[in-house]
Amino acid sequence: MGSVKIRWRRTEPVFRDALVSFTERRGIFMEIHELQQLLSEMSLQEKIGQMVQLTGVYFDKEAVLTGVVGEQLPPEWIVQYAGSVLGVIGKDKIYDIQSRYMEQHPHHIPLLFMADVIHGCRTIYPIPLGQACSFHPELVSEAASIAAMEASSEGLRATFSPMIDVSRDPRWGRIMESFGEDPYVNGIMGKAMVDGYQQKADTRIAACLKHFAGYGAVNAGRDYNDVEISQRTFLEQYVKPFRMALKAKPAMVMTAFNAIDRKPISGNKELLKGLLRDKEGFEGTVISDWGSIGQLEEQGVAADMEEAAIQASEAGVDIDMMSPAYMLYLEKLVESGKIPEALVDESAFRVLMMKNQLGLFENPFAGLGKSGKLTQHNREKAYQMAGESCVLLKNEKILPLSVKKKVIWAGPYTASREFLSRWSIFGEHESVETIEEVLQKKQIEAECITGCNILSDAECKVWQVEQELSDKPRDEQWLETITQEDTVVCVLGEHESQSGEAASRAFLTLPEEQQMLFEKIAERTRNIVTVVIAGRPLDLRRISEKSKAVIMAWRPGTMGAEAIVDIVYGRINPSGKLSVSIPWCVGQVPISYWDVKTGHILTEDNSKNRFTSRYMDIPNTPLYPFGYGLSYTEFDISDIDVQIGQDKKVHVHCNVCNTGNVAGAEVVQCYYETLYASVVRPKKELIRFRKVFLEPGEKKDVDFCIDQEEFSYYGKNMEIVSSGMKLRISIGNSSDHLVSENIMIVGG
Ligand code: NOJ
Repeated sequence: MGSVKIRWRRTEPVFRDALVSFTERRGIFMEIHELQQLLSEMSLQEKIGQMVQLTGVYFDKEAVLTGVVGEQLPPEWIVQYAGSVLGVIGKDKIYDIQSRYMEQHPHHIPLLFMADVIHGCRTIYPIPLGQACSFHPELVSEAASIAAMEASSEGLRATFSPMIDVSRDPRWGRIMESFGEDPYVNGIMGKAMVDGYQQKADTRIAACLKHFAGYGAVNAGRDYNDVEISQRTFLEQYVKPFRMALKAKPAMVMTAFNAIDRKPISGNKELLKGLLRDKEGFEGTVISDWGSIGQLEEQGVAADMEEAAIQASEAGVDIDMMSPAYMLYLEKLVESGKIPEALVDESAFRVLMMKNQLGLFENPFAGLGKSGKLTQHNREKAYQMAGESCVLLKNEKILPLSVKKKVIWAGPYTASREFLSRWSIFGEHESVETIEEVLQKKQIEAECITGCNILSDAECKVWQVEQELSDKPRDEQWLETITQEDTVVCVLGEHESQSGEAASRAFLTLPEEQQMLFEKIAERTRNIVTVVIAGRPLDLRRISEKSKAVIMAWRPGTMGAEAIVDIVYGRINPSGKLSVSIPWCVGQVPISYWDVKTGHILTEDNSKNRFTSRYMDIPNTPLYPFGYGLSYTEFDISDIDVQIGQDKKVHVHCNVCNTGNVAGAEVVQCYYETLYASVVRPKKELIRFRKVFLEPGEKKDVDFCIDQEEFSYYGKNMEIVSSGMKLRISIGNSSDHLVSENIMIVGG
């Protein structure tokens, strides 16, 4: 510790001034034995305090609420000792709360301010589902590191992100917050985000993997619903991203609301201790989801709140986010001997460790006011990310448009700033440009007409939103001026409130007035380019059929408008690939490319046979599959070679060449299929990908090296099978377009 005084021993009234003088110190942490000493000096209430997270409303009236605050007022001592606060942001505000809190805390332990910084803090990046479509983990990491800078500068030192719930049901509103349907992509992107948040010493924030685990499989896509999946699917597909992202050593893991095998996670010792800590080696802090400990009572597995507190603390949940369980019952439970104090010590110590790792004991204000928000650099990255997230789904030689040709831009999203999401809680719509403004700025001649609002009045009621009505006339006469020679770029999509937490949908349709607007335009011209703004895959059949080009732009963030305009006019060459299948219609969901094999297989040859595993009224395949996305150039993948090396690893090699005449990027994807096993396995699984940037005519080598264990799976008796695996290994640029196949026996 050198000459630095240990914070928690200071008791002088000049404490506040002393804090200020610490703000320049960095990188000096308490030793473990010092933390242990601190713990031993803390009262039981103080220790329990570390295990309780309160929303900012107890500290600041303007705090953001992301859940329901219960009726029950917390006991007074808990507001004095609560270890962390949720949903408050702002340099001065946090400075104030922290100083007051630390001054009156018996050991001057700093508060940890946490919030949902999901896809950017002030500069908003595309939603995670869109970021995953970039297939560019380095960029995802950079965006997270910028988010950490902006957040820490305003006092936040922990985020509840990344969400790495494998999501294959677009009815689920939270699909927007995940990296899509693929376990491997969720793992890679999750790790990249954790690295980005936690890497830089002076601006890092604690990352939190969530929701452990299985939440993405909520039945029928209804939020907070139960989950019914096999143990094998749970471990192989849903836990896999956690296993991968844990390598980045995230500070926290959040428990999921749901139960697995009817045992709610927040009270599930087998999963939290047995699997997460003992097997996967997680040493950080486990935090409950909002109220999920109290919810054990609602789920009917705890007789009352006291029992909920017992179950969660025994399962190893270190922090109770916003349920009354720990704050009301832990003290009594320890005093009556119903739970050992050692449990409280263990959890409180983990929270202290996390604060120590963030350097809070040395400088509770580190990073505060250090970085700018929405800087040029941050915006440039958001622009790059928005460009790389967009997926070109269809292009019948219409894109890119020439700036010389006057086109009509139509739809409510041409004049809207709503390119963020409900989860960008600190994002500012004022800092978002509209498409119309971007077109004017770039002096591109275009006529912009909204045509309708994002939601109809009836839809506004359903989604509980007050919509700023468009100031453009709703009159339809302009429609009649459209001729078949005209090109119309339609920018249409969901409202921000239609995706995110508590935003499940039964239908995947466009808002009704927008669909009607589209149909009317389609009656007048075939030259339609449609840009879709959405937090989930939508039913795009009509759009796809009637448009010559379709761009899936997701919710593209602060710089969305500029990225969209630049894609349409060719300044950006689209390179995004779908991180999630776009289903044919809602009847297909849940759907993913890794669905497990069946008998009665439908093939091209037996397509007339009704006794196959099929729908009679729609195709089996999605409208657009996972991994798919077009470019303005062409790529050729060749020289594919797959070998088992002397190191016993699988080495995959190929060449990728840009055969067109503009620069672009291709995502080379490597899949495998287990051809034969004692249990039914997925049809294919992504095992590696690489995004390759190429000038026209340029060619690059791509090499993947894969450990044999990565192909392993759970056998009949849940034993891990990692030898004698008969595999087909393929390379391609989409899950449905694989260029070459190699069969080999791997392992043993
Ligand atoms: C509930 C959500 O499920 C979780 O993801 C989020 O981090 C918390 N609320 C805090 O807002």
